[in-house]
Amino acid sequence: MTGELLGFIDACPPPFPGVERAHATLRSAGFTEMDEAADWDDTAGSRFVRRGGSLVAWRHQTCEAGFRIIGAHTDSPNLRVTAQPDAGRAGFRQLGVEVYGGALLNSWLDRDLGVAGRVATPSGPRLFCIDRPVLRVPQLAIHLDRDVSQKGLLLNPQAHLTPVWGLGLQTPGEFAAVVAESAGVAPDEVLAWDAMLHDLTPSTAAGLDGEFLFAPRIDNQVSCWAGLQALLHAPADAVPSAVLCLFDHEEVGSVSAHGAASTLLPAALERIAGSRGRLLPALTRSMCVSADGAHATHPNYPERHEPNHHIAIGQGPVIKRNANQRYATDALGEAAFAAACKKAGVGHQLYVHRADLPCGSTIGPFAASATGIPTVDAGVAQLSMHSAREMCGSQDPGDFALALSAFLRAAA
Ligand code: CO
Repeated sequence: MTGELLGFIDACPPPFPGVERAHATLRSAGFTEMDEAADWDDTAGSRFVRRGGSLVAWRHQTCEAGFRIIGAHTDSPNLRVTAQPDAGRAGFRQLGVEVYGGALLNSWLDRDLGVAGRVATPSGPRLFCIDRPVLRVPQLAIHLDRDVSQKGLLLNPQAHLTPVWGLGLQTPGEFAAVVAESAGVAPDEVLAWDAMLHDLTPSTAAGLDGEFLFAPRIDNQVSCWAGLQALLHAPADAVPSAVLCLFDHEEVGSVSAHGAASTLLPAALERIAGSRGRLLPALTRSMCVSADGAHATHPNYPERHEPNHHIAIGQGPVIKRNANQRYATDALGEAAFAAACKKAGVGHQLYVHRADLPCGSTIGPFAASATGIPTVDAGVAQLSMHSAREMCGSQDPGDFALALSAFLRAAA
């Protein structure tokens, strides 16, 4: 199980190649792809639809008992290549980047970085992935930054994060040429790109007794993996209908053409139901789990956590509550997901953010407001959230998958 999850995380990074991989897994499990631009006369059985870096998959016969939905996000904070990236200084060839989402900037320093994503070509989009260490953001030596240990590391995202990728003079069009080769097209066919950097250190089981996983993108590939496992193990004629949605753009607020606040999920549910008349009553019998990483209590900073809501690695899925609806869970949702954990034979924990710190959010409130479906925010406990290299427990992802499976099978 752990090896399978680590392989899932290390395969070329999301959102685009990641959704491609989920799509390949679904296809080999017998799911049929639907085209958003075509009529859907039959949505029964195992199907999926893609839009950009997002995907909705389902197992469905009738929606009379409503939908059981698992949502997760495919994107992670990272560095993204700019539109005119060719740059250089002091004898180095460099690549212009922007910061995507709330990345821990220091975690991108001194790493072996590859680059992956999607290019627009005259014959349509092509994916590419350069999985060798072509890039590095070198940290300033301590001899040139004497106060760094006392005053902390200050990084200006415009000035200090530009990676190096060669020596000599950067020629205009160099990035396009490199990407073209990887995508298998001619350089003049590369019209534009969505390209992002990724750390190449392989994911690994770790700790004295293998109790940890050290990996990139645990937030939120662990939830994508667990949700995919739950859907694959659901019967093709699942009642209630089982739905998995993997959304792009959570890390930048979910408001986009295919993020959790988009029409993707409501439109897919309406088409699965067959009509708005059938959909609306089905929504009242439905429930959603928004699956995303949760903060384990950090042993070096226990004072940053709410003292009555200690979260431990290895103690099962975490249900997240927030009075101000940064998480969508209410009392009934908490009770329902706790019951699913119990049915699966795994524990559960309750997370509340400190009252004197602003709370993060996730796709839960967006999915809930777009569909009107009661939603529970839950996930796997982890440390180093939004670092290029995160960590979680080795037992928890499998336990979360079991809890999500039990949730899909529970009557609404
Ligand atoms: Co997340």
